[in-house]
Amino acid sequence: MQAVKILSTGSYLPPKVLTNFDLEKMVDTTDEWIRTRTGISERHIVEEGVFTSDLAFEAAKIALANAGLKASDIDMIIVATASPDNMYPSTACWVQKKFNIPGIPAFDISAACSGFVYGLSVAASFIESGKYKHILLCGAEVMSKVVNWKDRETCILFGDGAGACIVTKSEDGSSGIISSYLGADGTLGDLLIQPAGGTRMPASHETVDKNLHSVHMEGQEVFKHAVRTMASTGERVLKEAGMTADDVDIYIPHQANMRIVEAACKRVKIPMSKTYSIIHKYGNVPAASIPLTIDDAIRANKIKRGDIVLMTAFGAGFTWGGMVLKW
Ligand code: UT7
Repeated sequence: MQAVKILSTGSYLPPKVLTNFDLEKMVDTTDEWIRTRTGISERHIVEEGVFTSDLAFEAAKIALANAGLKASDIDMIIVATASPDNMYPSTACWVQKKFNIPGIPAFDISAACSGFVYGLSVAASFIESGKYKHILLCGAEVMSKVVNWKDRETCILFGDGAGACIVTKSEDGSSGIISSYLGADGTLGDLLIQPAGGTRMPASHETVDKNLHSVHMEGQEVFKHAVRTMASTGERVLKEAGMTADDVDIYIPHQANMRIVEAACKRVKIPMSKTYSIIHKYGNVPAASIPLTIDDAIRANKIKRGDIVLMTAFGAGFTWGGMVLKW
C-alpha cells in the first residue's frame, strides 16, 4: 500500500443552475429524454467572466481550510482539466497566482474525464518521493464555454464545477492507495475531441463558423467503450488489491451518464446502493466529477476513515484509470 492519503477535500459549484427545462427552450430536447437517457436533471454553469481557475481556487480554499492548512503550506499545485483557462499558462499557474504562492511547481494534467485519477497517481508518486508534503490537486471545468449550445447530443451532458483535495503522506500508514492503474488508447482520439484551437487546427474564421472549438463526440461509440473500460478497470484494480466487489464500501465512478455507471456496476457486481452519484444535479463535469462526488459523499457522511473506496474513470484520449483506496 502507498502510504498516501487525501487529507481533506473541498468543492465549488457556480451558483447559476441550468435545468433540463431551460434546455428545452434552447434545443430540440425534453426533460424526460435527458433524465431517462443520462440521469441528469440540472447542471451548474458559470456567469461571464468566471474561469476554470476561479472555480479551482474556490474549491481549493475550502480543501485547505478543512485540512487546517495555510496556502503557504502547499508545495505543489496540480490541476486536472479539459477546459483550461488558456493553452498556456496552465490553469494551475493561475491558481498559484490567486493564492500568491510563487516558486512551487504548478502544472495541468490533460487526461479529460480521467484527469483526477491520473493526477492522484502523479501526486502520490511525488509524495512517496519524500520531496513534497502537501500537494493541492484540483479537478476543475468550465465546459459551458466549450460546448456547442446548438448540439443537443452534447450540450445537455456537461456542467461546470471544481473539486479539490490535499494529498499528503499517511504518517501512521492507516490510509493509503492499495492499487492503481492508468491506461490510454490514442488510436481512438477522434471519437471525443475538441477539434480546433491547437496546432492541428489553429483558430480561423472557418473553425469558428463550423463550431470546431467545441466538444465533438460519437456518443454511442464512446458509451460502449466507457462501459467496457470502466468495468475492466474496476475489476483490474480490485484484483490487484486482492479484493472482490464485496470488500468495497463505496464506489465513486466518473459520471458521464448514469446508464454507463449502472452497466459498469452490473459487470463489476457492485450494487448501486454502494455507488455515490451526483450526476443528477451536476451533469458530467469531466475532471471534476470524481473529486466533486467524493466531497459530496464526505459531507453526506458516506465516506469515513478506514472505508475501502473504489474509483474508476474514462474519458477523451481515450484515457482511463482506477484506484482502490483505504480512506
Ligand atoms: O465523459 C466523457 C465520456 N462521455 C460519455 O461517456 C458520453 C457517452 N455517450 C452518451 O452518454 C450517450 O451516447 C448520449 C447521451 C450522448 C446519447 O444517448 P444515446 O442513448 O446513445 O442516444 P442515441 O445517440 O442513440 O440517439 C437516440 C435518439 C436519436 O434519434 P433517432 O435517430 O432515434 O430519431 C437522437 O437523434 O435520440 C436522439 N437524441 C436526442 N433526443 C432528444 C440525441 N440527443 C437528444 C436529445 N434530446 N438531447
